[in-house]
Amino acid sequence: MSTDNPLNDPAADPFEVARAAADVIASKSGIERHDIALTLGSGWGKAADIIGETVSEIPASEVPGFSASAVPGHSGTVRSIALPDGRHALVIGARTHYYEGHGVRRVVHSVRTAAATGAAVMILTNGAGGIKEHWTPGTPVLISDHINLTADSPLEGATFVDLTDLYSARLRAVARGVDPSLDEGVYTQFRGPHYETPAEVQMAKTIGGHIVGMSTALEAIAARQAGMEVLGFSLITNLAAGIQKTPLSHAEVLEAGREAEPRIADLLARVVAAIGSSPEAAEGSAL
Ligand code: HPA
Repeated sequence: MSTDNPLNDPAADPFEVARAAADVIASKSGIERHDIALTLGSGWGKAADIIGETVSEIPASEVPGFSASAVPGHSGTVRSIALPDGRHALVIGARTHYYEGHGVRRVVHSVRTAAATGAAVMILTNGAGGIKEHWTPGTPVLISDHINLTADSPLEGATFVDLTDLYSARLRAVARGVDPSLDEGVYTQFRGPHYETPAEVQMAKTIGGHIVGMSTALEAIAARQAGMEVLGFSLITNLAAGIQKTPLSHAEVLEAGREAEPRIADLLARVVAAIGSSPEAAEGSAL
């Protein structure tokens, strides 16, 4: 992993680094402004191929502050995509996870960069464990809220940001308009990279969690700080530890993602299109 990442310097201003990253994306892609951004987690990668025409695919290592993905199965690029309705999407296939230990600034850098490119909507996706037993592996669910169990925050200093409606009810309704069968649940972010113990999963369930994962909550907070409207999706790749009686494995998670990928990519493409034609987008005010 790069040692020369500008975000490793504690004196760096993370918003300036995001601005520099957005400038590089604009100059390499030729697209001055993006309207919507997507972070594609386990299982969601194919969406990048079908939401529109790729204008430019930039290796993450060429964008200031980004690092190549540490996880096999996650692609390490930032893509600029022209949507059929003329909008532009920024697709981030290079997520830095909290468990990598590089600090929260690097975790949320992609979200801050997306905001700096102009994106007003941030779609965060992940592969995660399900606590509701009827969520069979391969089920996509909407994130309705989160519980952040990392004991960390992307906000620095006395920065008080309201999270009451963090996961936009408006965008969830747009998604449900595309697929009325979409269920939703509360995402619980653990540090990882170990999966949870069955006791931890029971704790998450007791405190109101329905989904367990290792990303997204910190990114969603940073997106809200940046003034973006957030939509979150989890692909349930497995039932959480102890809910499922067999041991968990990364291979199983990737396999469930691969199997579900065509279906959920299609879902995401239709949701992105529907957001473009939703009333707020038409009025030019996404917030
Ligand atoms: N727990 C945490 N993260 C995950 C899981 C899980 O069960 N499955 C996929 N990512």
